[in-house]
Amino acid sequence: MLFRYILVAMFRRALLVSLCLLLLAPYASADNHQRAVLITGSNRGIGFEFARQYAELGWLVIATARAPGAADALQALAADNANVVIEQLDVTDLAGVDALAEKYSDQRIDVLLNNAAISGSPSLRQKFGRVDYDYFDDFMATNARGPLKVAEAFLPHVKMSDRRQIVLVSSIGGSFSAGGRDSCGTMIYRASKAAANMLMVNVAEATAMHGVTVTLVNPGLVDTQGMLTEMNEKMKLGLTLVPIKDSVAGMISVIAAATPATSGRFYQWSGEELGY
Ligand SMILES: NC(=O)c1ccc[n+]([C@@H]2O[C@H](COP(=O)([O-])OP(=O)(O)OC[C@H]3O[C@@H](n4cnc5c(N)ncnc54)[C@H](OP(=O)(O)O)[C@@H]3O)[C@@H](O)[C@H]2O)c1
Repeated sequence: MLFRYILVAMFRRALLVSLCLLLLAPYASADNHQRAVLITGSNRGIGFEFARQYAELGWLVIATARAPGAADALQALAADNANVVIEQLDVTDLAGVDALAEKYSDQRIDVLLNNAAISGSPSLRQKFGRVDYDYFDDFMATNARGPLKVAEAFLPHVKMSDRRQIVLVSSIGGSFSAGGRDSCGTMIYRASKAAANMLMVNVAEATAMHGVTVTLVNPGLVDTQGMLTEMNEKMKLGLTLVPIKDSVAGMISVIAAATPATSGRFYQWSGEELGY
């Protein structure tokens, strides 16, 4: 009786392990080496959640942040996970991007994840007639030029991988076809994301010959600033908010499913294709 019980338990365990391996197959490499992801802006918000979830999947996570010394949550994540390495990176610092690329010149990067951005709450500085042009330049340097520079500097590392993926965490706010007319004081943010989309479509074209897959992905409306949920409820705004864990898990699945044939396309976190 006991022997039969042990046999059944062993069979169930083997079945469970096989199922897990099958589900995680897109995350494993051909020769079972550890996958590597480099994430920009990983000290908070969506970037941090990407670092947390990729770490949980066993990837090597090169988690970059502008100010690692002040990145308490990220420091705690790295303390608990040997596969998380923290690096300083400001994506507007062109020489700094090159220096980090040089430091990691021998490191294969399977997924280069351009997440960092100025999100920018609605503001009069973004309103036509009152535009703050220093603010404009900050948006463009961070949200559009940043991902372009990171993609250029780390292309050799991406080319070392068999997955060869570059990702832009974009925004539906930068999409013309989704109707970007009612900007609500976010005109410059939206323009910077539209520019980033255009740049990544061009990067997709330029890197197709190297078998690189570029994926643009919209996280949905995620309350990373901790204000939207309360405002939504109190003011009955009717916004559809996406829990951060679901958004990031969805984007990881979108990234895992991307292939060179889909390079340059724009997807919702839940997998539907979006227009630019
Ligand atoms: N949350 C949403 O609903 C939503 C919707 C659509 C798209 N997105 C996009 O999703 C991405 C993440 O958004 P989020 O909500 O997580 O934003 P967030 O909470 O404002 O975090 C932005 C991250 O980017 C970093 N960052 C800003 N400027 C940087 C620079 N020059 N160099 C390096 N890092 C820099 C920030 O670092 P510091 O802490 O140093 O400032 C922070 O880690 C962004 O690309 C955003 O546009 C978000």
